[in-house]
Amino acid sequence: MLNGYKVLVTGATSGIGLATAKEFIAQGATVIAVGRDFAKAGDPGPNYIPCKCDVTDEAQIDQVVQFITEKFGVLDSMVLNAGAGIASTPDTITSEIIDSQYSLLLRPNVLFVSKCAELLRKSQNPSISMTASVAALSVDGTFPYNIVKMAVMSLCRQCAQQLKGIRTNAVCPGLIRTPLMPDAVWDALGTEESLQQIPSRRIGTPDEPAKLFAFLASEKASYVSGAVITIDGGWYTTHPRTL
Ligand code: NAI
Repeated sequence: MLNGYKVLVTGATSGIGLATAKEFIAQGATVIAVGRDFAKAGDPGPNYIPCKCDVTDEAQIDQVVQFITEKFGVLDSMVLNAGAGIASTPDTITSEIIDSQYSLLLRPNVLFVSKCAELLRKSQNPSISMTASVAALSVDGTFPYNIVKMAVMSLCRQCAQQLKGIRTNAVCPGLIRTPLMPDAVWDALGTEESLQQIPSRRIGTPDEPAKLFAFLASEKASYVSGAVITIDGGWYTTHPRTL
């Protein structure tokens, strides 16, 4: 259980982030929910603290960190999860696309780590988890999202080595049905033919990575650090590997 834990979750207004916030709250935590559009989050209860923040804006990240410092003075866990993908190819990509993916998927994670390390060190069981993707482990049609998510995995390992005492892990979801993509795309991915690529023969649900994030923040994962954990129903076993 995560009784009394103070946990920051980015992208906490929908999909995996919202499910993660609800799972932490169900296990006794208070969630500092970082997001932009809280109307779509519904009402996850009094232990869901909305913090409006565009994570590409460093000044807004500073406001979140200041709020946590003043209100709690400690942080037990961070789930750095906000994201969205833009697909291109190495011969058609523009500087705007690569800059926007870097600014959304990698830069905020680096900034949250550097600005929150001191708060995390005040916890008895500090941890950081980041949402990467199985796309990062594979050569697929999600470039440059996949290579920036690969950098997120590297960041997790760098943190695990150098933030002594703060366990840091990367979670790589496979296909998890969320508002990340339109319903029509999910419906196409859910056909019997498409599901041949997933040994579990189904698309995942947001509560599945949410439970993994809660485990990683808990005492049960006290010796888990520097790990890259896939949660994909076996998708990765059926795709070409980056490494
Ligand atoms: P989602 O679209 O439901 O959630 C993404 C969240 O990030 C949203 O709440 C969105 O508002 C927030 N966000 C985006 N840009 C932001 C910004 N500039 N500032 C603050 N918040 C921002 O999608 P989902 O699926 O829950 O995505 C969560 C993470 O999981 C993302 O990093 C995504 O890349 C990753 N992922 C998702 C997979 C899937 O199949 N759903 C597969 C692999 C990785």
